[in-house]
This record gives sequence, structure tokens and C-alpha cells, in this order.
Amino acid sequence: MLIKSSHPFPIKPSEITPESTYLDRRKFLERLGLTAIGLGVAACGDAAEPPPPAKPEAGAGLAPLKVTKSSSLAGGETQTPFETVTHYNNYYEFGTDKSDPADNAGSLKTRPWSVAVEGECEAPGVLALDDLLKPFALEERIYRHRCVEAWSIVVPWVGIPLADVLKRFKPTSKAKFVSFVTLYDPAQMPLTRRGVLDWPYKEGLRIDEAMHPLAFLSVGMYGKVLPNQNGAPLRLTMPWKYGFKSIKAIVKIRFDEQQPAATWNHMAADEYGFYSNVNPEVDHPRWSQKSERRLGELFKRPTLMFNGYPEVASLYAGMDLRKNF
Ligand code: MTE
Repeated sequence: MLIKSSHPFPIKPSEITPESTYLDRRKFLERLGLTAIGLGVAACGDAAEPPPPAKPEAGAGLAPLKVTKSSSLAGGETQTPFETVTHYNNYYEFGTDKSDPADNAGSLKTRPWSVAVEGECEAPGVLALDDLLKPFALEERIYRHRCVEAWSIVVPWVGIPLADVLKRFKPTSKAKFVSFVTLYDPAQMPLTRRGVLDWPYKEGLRIDEAMHPLAFLSVGMYGKVLPNQNGAPLRLTMPWKYGFKSIKAIVKIRFDEQQPAATWNHMAADEYGFYSNVNPEVDHPRWSQKSERRLGELFKRPTLMFNGYPEVASLYAGMDLRKNF
């Protein structure tokens, strides 16, 4: 099976840095400070070149979102370009190559959209997404986001603290976990017919993780509505966990008494633990987690415990994080 026999998230070297950046000699020289002036190239040499064709504005067509506040929670690090974040995606419902979601996710219809909330709560129900969001002001959170494949990005997400949404449904004392389910509709997601994963994609959190102030539900990024390939219309954003926890296109939220099934954990429990916390001390059985490549950068950087969010450490006090990875 795919999971056991090969890298489940295959990385080609050319994919680590977006090809346009990687191959663009001009940008490469600029990065080294060797611009036309630095190289002593005569101005007339450049003047002979036709101007580059005007590119459509990145994200054109996505509705802008009004945010009430913005928090920089990535240590002031440079944001990854929108173009990169929207063309290097994991979203297996739309294909397994990094460029597939941008090419194929246009078939997903994100309105009307409803979310079912069920299980151990006093106020379950099925809500239109716009009604689910209505009571809340949107905020922007700039978070680091690290994939288990050892690449990372810095993204200004727009959304709502997950705890605020969950509390609205009044979880009971039996609600020890929360699970999330992605839409499964082969008509809109034709590539799901090929198998690959056990659909629908599912994820789960312990209730205290879900209620942590850093846990976030995103509806947008870079000030605009989420592009389909990044999880529109509603996705989880868990900055201290590997990216696969951040489930896209959520249609169901369930409060559970028992630990719920999570797709990658279910496919290969020895490789993808339920917690999936970013931890440079616990390697994936087939590759190191000690360092990562920020997309668009040339060199790797060390990976930080909990992806650089030490405020979550108390959630795991007393736990053996080698066993509970
Ligand atoms: N959600 C669904 N439904 N299907 C997926 O294949 N991939 C996960 C996660 N959420 C995935 C998903 C993985 S492996 C990662 S790394 C992140 O989405 C990638 O999010 P991004 O494409 O916005 O960077």
C-alpha cells in the first residue's frame, strides 16, 4: 500500500522551493546582491528587454475580509508569498502532487455550505456556515505552519478562535475529544474515486487542545477568503502541530467521549501519531524532523519544539512525547 511502500507525501527536489523562484536566475542573482548594477551591466542592456507581461494580481477574485485585529504570532518572520502558499498544497481529495489542488480544487462549491455539530453537547445542530460565523468578529493570526514533510510557511490566516465556536454548542463533561470531518463528494472531488486515503478525511483533538487559545478555525488568509486549495470555506489551523492536523473543508464537528479516528493515524499509526505535535526530538520513522525548509528559502533551519509555540507545553505535562507523538 502507498503508506507503507513509499513516502506518503512524495517530495521532489524541485518542489521544495517553488520552481519559479528556484529557476529564476535574475531573482537568484538579486538574492546574492548581484543586481544589474552590482554586475556593472550597462543600463542600455536592460532597456532593450521588453517589460514583463502584467500578471493578474495574486488572489484576484477572492472576496476581501474585514478583520478586527491582527496578531503577529510568528516572531515577526517574513510571510511566505501568497503565490507559494496557494500553489504548493497537500489536499489529496484533489490529487497528490503539490500543484494538483491549485489546478483541480476549483470544482469545489463552497456556498451554500453547512456544518453539522453533534455528539456530547447540549446544543447540537446543522448550521449554515454564515450563521455559524455570524456572532464572531474575524481576526488575523500570523502563524508558522509546518508540514510533517519538513517544509514550512508563514501565513496570515483569518478566522475565529476554535474555542469560541465550540463553546457555542455547550459541550458536556463527557466531551473529552473533538473530531472534524471533511466533505466527501466524488462529484466535486473526482480524484477521491482513485482511493489513496480512506475518505472522508478526518481529524481529532483532545478537548483541552481544541480549547487552547492558539487553536484556530480559518475562513481566509492574506486578508481574503480562503482559496479552495487551502481549505475553503472552513479549515482548522493548529500551529503547533504538523500540517495534516489542519483539516480542510470541514462539514462536521463532533464532541466525543473516546479518542476519535484521524486519517493519517488510522492509515499508519506507527508513523503518524494522534497528537502530531511538532517535535524535533522525535523523528518520523523514515526521515528526520530536526530541521525544515521554509518555502522560498535556500537553506534549512532548525525545527522548534511545538513549532515555536512553547505556551502549549502545559497541555502535555507529564506525558512521554516519544510514545505520544
Ligand atoms: N485536509 C484534507 N481534507 N485533505 C488533505 O489531504 N492535507 C493536510 C492538511 N489538511 C489535507 C487536509 C496536510 S498533509 C497538510 S500539510 C495541510 O493540509 C496543508 O495545508 P496547506 O495546503 O494550506 O498548506
